[in-house]
Amino acid sequence: MVVAAAAVKPGWPADKHVIVNPPPNITDPLVLFMPSGKRGRFPVGTPVLDAARQLGVYVESVCGGRATCGRCQIEVQEGNFAKHKIVSSNDHISAKGAKEERYERVRGLPDRRRLSCSAQILGDLVIDVPQDTVINAQTIRKDADTRVIARDSAVRMCYVEIEEPDMHKPLGDLDRLKIALMKDWGFKSLEFDFYLLPQVQGILRKGNWTATAAIHKDADSDIARVIALWPGLKNEAYGLACDIGSTTIAMHLVSLLSGRVAASSGTSNPQIRFGEDLMSRVSYVMMNPDGREGMTVAVREAVSGLVDKVCAEGNVQRNDILDTVFVGNPIMHHLFLGIDPTELGGAPFALAVSGAVRIKASDLGLKLNQGARLYMLPCIAGHVGADAAAVTLSEGPHRQDEMMLIVDVGTNAEIVLGNRTRVVAASSPTGPAFEGAEISGGQRAAPGAIERVRIDPNTLEPRYRVIGSELWSDQPGFAESVQATGVTGICGSGIIEVIAEMYLSGIISEDGVVDGSLAARSPRIVANGRTFSYLLKDGEPKITITQNDVRAIQLAKAALYAGTKLLMEKQHTDHVDRIHFAGAFGSFIDPKYAMVLGLIPDCDLDKVSAVGNAAGAGARMALLNRGYRREIEETVSRIEKIETALEPKFQEHFVYAMALPNKVDPFPKLAAAVKLPPRKATSEDGAAGDATPRRRSREERAARRGRE
Ligand code: FES
Repeated sequence: MVVAAAAVKPGWPADKHVIVNPPPNITDPLVLFMPSGKRGRFPVGTPVLDAARQLGVYVESVCGGRATCGRCQIEVQEGNFAKHKIVSSNDHISAKGAKEERYERVRGLPDRRRLSCSAQILGDLVIDVPQDTVINAQTIRKDADTRVIARDSAVRMCYVEIEEPDMHKPLGDLDRLKIALMKDWGFKSLEFDFYLLPQVQGILRKGNWTATAAIHKDADSDIARVIALWPGLKNEAYGLACDIGSTTIAMHLVSLLSGRVAASSGTSNPQIRFGEDLMSRVSYVMMNPDGREGMTVAVREAVSGLVDKVCAEGNVQRNDILDTVFVGNPIMHHLFLGIDPTELGGAPFALAVSGAVRIKASDLGLKLNQGARLYMLPCIAGHVGADAAAVTLSEGPHRQDEMMLIVDVGTNAEIVLGNRTRVVAASSPTGPAFEGAEISGGQRAAPGAIERVRIDPNTLEPRYRVIGSELWSDQPGFAESVQATGVTGICGSGIIEVIAEMYLSGIISEDGVVDGSLAARSPRIVANGRTFSYLLKDGEPKITITQNDVRAIQLAKAALYAGTKLLMEKQHTDHVDRIHFAGAFGSFIDPKYAMVLGLIPDCDLDKVSAVGNAAGAGARMALLNRGYRREIEETVSRIEKIETALEPKFQEHFVYAMALPNKVDPFPKLAAAVKLPPRKATSEDGAAGDATPRRRSREERAARRGRE
């Protein structure tokens, strides 16, 4: 279908250089923009930038079409595009004019690139809008997440030429700047940050009556605000996308003009010294009068340290950072904003603020450009934060038909389940076991940690891999390859694999009991008081998987599964179509083993994927495109929150989920892919084996403890 040249994209006004064409004629050239796929007919002679603007295709422009910023680059795709009935050729675009040639001479243009503000349409065209517009020989960082984010950021750089002062027209310098900006860039109303007033005269004179204004316009109102000002042409602006996790803080430094990630870095959250998990940090605040302030200062200092790191790596000045987006779970969100999180420590888990927060970055003492803004995504509920909102934005269950489960595993697992009809969310108290805490040989994922485990079902002999080496422990050269780090412990993914392998090889029953009778045929099974352990690694340090370790993982995975089951019940579904594991933990666990353990429900294994730091990706989307801010604000208002602590069935699901993979739920897709040990017959109430009343009441107590 041919889309007629439409009005300019809502939100940002068109600048004066955009000509609104008369209605298109059927004989006018047809122009298709990629990758958006938007197309329309435009009269011969229309600048390509104007055509893009009229179709709502985002092409950056700082200089307003003066052929000086180089931001508006495009490429002509040559060939016969039969599907679109377009024969596109470089002959269908005007030759380089004087301005474009001057730009090329002075700044350089990559091969085949054209400035869309200068190049005019002469015939049918397929135009590629590259996402990597290179200005001033910037290096393009190959980020792990290479998704292309359509840009429409809340901060826009606008270059203007201002009338010189005239005794006969006593308008102030700032007023003439305002008039120029409104006229050239089409703003209906414009306000200025107060701090700029004393600077404006110096800046305009320094720029010889030219200046670039950074204009912030976020929510849908007509008010735009000048937040920063430079003399002459300022051709770069940056933003920060930051995910404040309870364990780690991750930050991306992103060009607001090209969308490229200039640098990424992470650091551990220094609040760990106040408490490993979230609840212990809330307790710290409750017990210590200076507790809240201490943790707020700690996290802001860590964020500031990360700003230094990404600025150094990306060769960017703090003063060029104009916008920021932060996400975090509710307690991190509150502490970063300086809000006491005590209310989040108990029912009804009241948030001080659940909607999106829009403030100046300087309100939190962040030393960036003085006018830099800060946006925090909305929180979903008292236990499901702005990080879960960012993950939802990134993965988009609300944008598709399949029933998608998103699991962000941390000390508190956040779970989102839904499709475009309905989305529900909850958090489950998994505790820190998946991160290696509470496990006898457990450690954080770091060089030297066992991350992969296989157990021979006949000999019960293990082989393993450690972070920092590509070799398995039974391969030649392994000892040398780990000489520098040693084998120091076992991390979350290793724990999941070893317990799943212990189950698959018959070392533990479906109820998680280490079978002591196997000690007769393997020295790996060792008595440990009244229970038995599995010796994974002998020597120094000795790494064993004890009965308590198995129990800790069972409790954690049962809490996660029970939360997921509650959400499935709310959705009236007995299956999920797709599972996305978010977070660092999810990147390293093998979906097969997660399913053998019963961490997640049955699903086609090829539809289970790790999506990395999806919270960071969601933050980046909200940074680069205001539309995503509106989308997640609207979506969060519709997400139904399930409070696991108040759901009577949580306990029942928890008890069944203590078994591997589950006492009552079938795992047919997993069984087709993996040979599971035969299941024991279940008794009438669905419980089986050694789920005696004594054991069940112990598990129920554990379930209650987890929920409290
Ligand atoms: Fe600045 Fe084209 S818009 S060079």
